[in-house]
Amino acid sequence: MDAIRIHGGVPLKGEIPISGAKNAALPLMAACLLTDEPLVLSNVPALADIKTMSALLQQHGAEISRSDDGHTLNLHVGAITSTEAPYDLVRKMRASVLVLGPLVAREGVARVSLPGGCAIGTRPVDLHLKALSALGAEIEMANGYVEARIPAGQKRLKGAHFTFPMVTVGGTENVLMAAALAEGETVIENAAREPEIADLAECLIAMGAGITGLGSGTLKVQGVESLHGAHHSVVPDRIETGTYAVAAAITRGKLKLTNTRVDLLDSVIDAMRQTGVEVRSDETSITVTASDRLAGVDVMTEPYPGFPTDMQAQWMALMTTADGAAMVTETIFENRFMHVPELGRFGADVNVHGASAIVRGKVDLTGAPVMATDLRASVSLVLTGLAAAGETTVNRVYHLDRGYERLEEKLAACGARIERIKGV
Ligand code: UD1
Repeated sequence: MDAIRIHGGVPLKGEIPISGAKNAALPLMAACLLTDEPLVLSNVPALADIKTMSALLQQHGAEISRSDDGHTLNLHVGAITSTEAPYDLVRKMRASVLVLGPLVAREGVARVSLPGGCAIGTRPVDLHLKALSALGAEIEMANGYVEARIPAGQKRLKGAHFTFPMVTVGGTENVLMAAALAEGETVIENAAREPEIADLAECLIAMGAGITGLGSGTLKVQGVESLHGAHHSVVPDRIETGTYAVAAAITRGKLKLTNTRVDLLDSVIDAMRQTGVEVRSDETSITVTASDRLAGVDVMTEPYPGFPTDMQAQWMALMTTADGAAMVTETIFENRFMHVPELGRFGADVNVHGASAIVRGKVDLTGAPVMATDLRASVSLVLTGLAAAGETTVNRVYHLDRGYERLEEKLAACGARIERIKGV
């Protein structure tokens, strides 16, 4: 397994191009199952999760070709050759469950392995299933698989009014894709408002679906009998943007983040400004300039447009370098503080009580060997390593490869002393 070695303490300076959003690209790829015409996606990040989704779609019958730079995918499912998403692929990546809605909507049946537990909480899919059964799908569970089918004698799912009891990103995406091919109107209330959902809705509209309410908590879908091919460019990755904004701040450097959009991360930028970091932006870039001293700022994770849970670990890393204390509260996942003991290895002072963590900042961080159990936790350790004096080794780099394209390259280009060590 690869590791990443960092010699910290260098203020980062330069430009980092932001990739397309992984969390938008995955549902967009699943949307290719909804049509027998080609779906062309550009600005797709080159990541391990994208490969996993490609493998899953290929075994459902997708023919997938990639442009030379790997950032444009042509996905074509002339015919669905298998309606089963096997355990081996689903267990690698929870987002695999996003094939459920499209498969049942187009093919009338889908059998998808349950994603099971996950490092950051139990993460059930009960709400995905409730929403699909509101559209008339019959759902059964057996042998670790969920099977959904359109009732005998019926050709399509039926539009319905469904209110999510809590906000779920994946659940909203699954039912949105299914509703696009259902008969009649579907109204999804308490829909997640994450920008990745509006991005999916825009692509579905380009494929011929009727959807209104983009960016709001109520999505109205006019189902159609069939969808056609389209070309769609994936929205910039707001979490990658926020992560590199923290990289600038934590190293007291200055970074210009390009190919991105400031409106995707208002809550993070607000918090950033409160710490004393200067953030300037134009249509497609954000420039982050840190001063030497930062103030501690409390954050609480919430569904969009609140502070993203996927930025919580990075924020905590930043707060270890701020003056005074900061309280970080996690409300989305019940077990998302696994980075805390690892931050302690750098000398960070973080005290967890229930869903909140108090970070007492301004400690002298020193490099350490660390490892993490999920993607965002791993990157928070890289960020801390960039700020800490001396050498840090981050193990289990495969987590980072799932969500950050060319991480070491992008950081090294801005002066970071960072390298990948193969197969340690
Ligand atoms: C997506 C993102 C992930 C992000 C999360 C929250 C992708 C590929 N992943 O994950 O990076 O951290 O949104 O912003 O886009 N829940 C249920 N039942 C369900 C579904 C969810 O109880 O059927 C719970 C989950 O356990 C969790 C909460 O709802 O506590 C939010 O989960 P959800 O929004 O569904 O996250 P994902 O779509 O899995």
